[in-house]
Amino acid sequence: MKDAAMSEPLLRVKNLVKHFPVKGGLLGRTVDKVHAVDGVSFELAKGETLGVVGESGCGKSTTGRCILRLIEPTSGEVWFEGKNVTELDREGLRATSRDMQIIFQDPYASLNPRMTVGAIIGEPLTIHKLTKSSAEYEDRIVELLETVGLNADHLRRYPHEFSGGQRQRIGIARALAVKPKLIVCDEPVSALDVSIQAQVINLLEDLQEKFDLTYLFIAHDLSVVEHISDRVAVMYLGRIVEIAPARELYTSPKHPYTEALLSAVPIPEPGLLRTRIRLVGDVPNPINPPTGCHFHPRCPKAFDRCKVESPVLKQAADGHWAACHLNDVAA
Ligand SMILES: Nc1ncnc2c1ncn2[C@@H]1O[C@H](COP(=O)(O)OP(=O)(O)OP(=O)(O)O)[C@@H](O)[C@H]1O
Ligand SMILES: [Mg+2]
Repeated sequence: MKDAAMSEPLLRVKNLVKHFPVKGGLLGRTVDKVHAVDGVSFELAKGETLGVVGESGCGKSTTGRCILRLIEPTSGEVWFEGKNVTELDREGLRATSRDMQIIFQDPYASLNPRMTVGAIIGEPLTIHKLTKSSAEYEDRIVELLETVGLNADHLRRYPHEFSGGQRQRIGIARALAVKPKLIVCDEPVSALDVSIQAQVINLLEDLQEKFDLTYLFIAHDLSVVEHISDRVAVMYLGRIVEIAPARELYTSPKHPYTEALLSAVPIPEPGLLRTRIRLVGDVPNPINPPTGCHFHPRCPKAFDRCKVESPVLKQAADGHWAACHLNDVAA
């Protein structure tokens, strides 16, 4: 745990909502809406890593993109260093975009195939006018390449000449070019071979130390974020259902959905066994989420109240919040 927990948060997300319209009919009117993010709140301290996990479609990327205003939130607030990002005009947003960067899942799709690696990494330097001469520009690109474990020889090559892991390093170098404070890492290792995943995660950890970075680290499953996260948030159908310090979440989960996700994580110690909890059914359609607790149709512990009343996040232990009626029963 970094010693940042006591200070003013770097990022504060308040009741973030994103509904995507669903068009239909002959006139292409909005006939419905996808509840992609449905009231998400959390804080992120400087230097901290918050892991965000949950099944496909639960709203992880949408949350990350709304924070950077790559997509406009429907409602809610995003505060970064005391500024309300949701209210910034174009100029304010451009200035803030230097502080907040994103690394994408697919290092194949996210790099322009027609640009050299040097141009890809140099583009943000040009946009934000960060270097004064072409010599300084080139030096900075080489410095960035070396920072992520590549070298000057790579400058004039194209993305297709690199492996997946190297391409992700190029994406990371590009994000670092503007000296950001916060990086949203949207499944940065999910598309990579397992053997390469650890290298990229180690690199991100080294960079965090070196540049005092704060990470929102999105992943599908709990095993990926266990090592890198100080705290972990578990999302289900647009909502955070549990958020806690990483160790606490892994050792004493308070939400049945977290328990189910954890039961799928292999335990390294021999002799220790977890019973695999198999979730019945698929994730419900976010156009029409279930009543009450969104998880109740798949929850092995659901009872009548869960069908009608939506549970709110309540503190179950120090810094450990869960949205489950069972915790009321236990209290
Ligand atoms: N531009 C869009 N238009 C309409 N619906 C969208 C759009 N982007 C995302 N959605 C929907 O919003 C919901 C949340 O999507 P999101 O991509 O945030 O999930 P995710 O948790 O990142 O999933 P994954 O693990 O697959 O990346 C999904 O139902 C998705 O289909
Ligand atoms: Mg995603």
